[in-house]
Amino acid sequence: MAFDYQNIKKDFPLLQTKMNGKPLVFLDSAASSQKPRRVIDAFEDYYRCRNANIHRGAYRLSYEATDLYDTTRTKMASFLNAPESESIIFTRNTTESLNIIAYSWAMNNLKAGDEILTSELEHHSNLVPWMMVARRTGAVLKHLPLTADGKYDYARLDSVLTSKTKLVTLAHMSNALGTIHDIQTLSERAHAVGALFSVDGAQGACHLPVDVQKINCDFYSLSAHKMLGPTGVGVLYGRRSLLEGMEPFLGGGDMILTVQKDSFKPAELPMKFEAGTPNIAGVVAFAIAIEYLKSIGLENIHQHEQQVVKYAIDEMGRIPGITLFGTNDMNARGGVVSFNVDGVHPHDVGSILDEEGIAVRAGHHCCEPFMRSHDISGTVRASFYLDNGPEDVDALVSGLKRVKQIFHKS
Ligand SMILES: Cc1ncc(COP(=O)(O)O)c(C=O)c1O
Repeated sequence: MAFDYQNIKKDFPLLQTKMNGKPLVFLDSAASSQKPRRVIDAFEDYYRCRNANIHRGAYRLSYEATDLYDTTRTKMASFLNAPESESIIFTRNTTESLNIIAYSWAMNNLKAGDEILTSELEHHSNLVPWMMVARRTGAVLKHLPLTADGKYDYARLDSVLTSKTKLVTLAHMSNALGTIHDIQTLSERAHAVGALFSVDGAQGACHLPVDVQKINCDFYSLSAHKMLGPTGVGVLYGRRSLLEGMEPFLGGGDMILTVQKDSFKPAELPMKFEAGTPNIAGVVAFAIAIEYLKSIGLENIHQHEQQVVKYAIDEMGRIPGITLFGTNDMNARGGVVSFNVDGVHPHDVGSILDEEGIAVRAGHHCCEPFMRSHDISGTVRASFYLDNGPEDVDALVSGLKRVKQIFHKS
């Protein structure tokens, strides 16, 4: 493979270690990626050499911390091709970003009978907030039908998009199946009926190039920890005119222009949505993760993942008694392989693989409605990133053979 994942792997300290006496094979980046040394160093360097609260200190250390924090915003704006850095809001994670849309926009703009379009394949973060909005406002939650192989059923968009649709909120890539969705088409179709279009980009921006102006989305949400950055940092990109019209999400320090005894005026963007002291160290270190991803190139990362996944599907497909989920259309597939071993609970598969030093996820992957609709309690999920290669697939395949030896003795 031309992509130098072996050298990339060397940048990740944890990937040089052993687990249960075996070299660690980390196949759970879809839950949270490992961190390259330079991101860890930047985090430590911040606390060691640069620690100060931002935006308020009248001293050099604080100015410098503020500059570093705002530099990440500028880098993120460029990473997403956002028209201005003020439309980049730092949050704790994708979940919080989606909840800002729910609380600050939807709760204040939707009324009984309005419709929100989502799907049964969504992560709970892109389902539960809309259920809460529906409960509070009387808006109706609708689900875009899926095809049998786990794509959105674009041919049936007409049956669910109506003049009452006010928000379409769907994922860039499914964390449960790895399906990459056609968000460009979804954006056009949502706007054609006058709805806003929000992208759950938790599995998008880490694996695929994103251009929010080209997509023409109204919101794009992501988490730093899935893209080589620290935990506790997320991003909400919002169209400036929308963010300006929205109520603040949390009230407190930093998000105000002035406060009187009984009233306040919110700050300008982006501060209006960043109440209280944020995860400064995390945001500062996130800039290094963004640079790292950019230097390798998201298109290269995507192509590499597709090759690894294709190899995984071919190899796993040769093992009898393994059910693979998701589409065979490799153009619509990212770095995730979801599967079950016949007659073996996903958690048992996960535990045996763990004994072999292989880290996978087992369960419903926060997609309970999807699992229920397929009458399964969950799947085993191997997720691949820029630091995985074919030898990780080989390790998984031999681990699965051991699972079969243990459970399919007869
Ligand atoms: C598609 C998708 N949406 C949302 C989330 C929630 O992300 P976070 O837990 O970082 O808020 C995840 C996390 O796995 C995800 O995969």
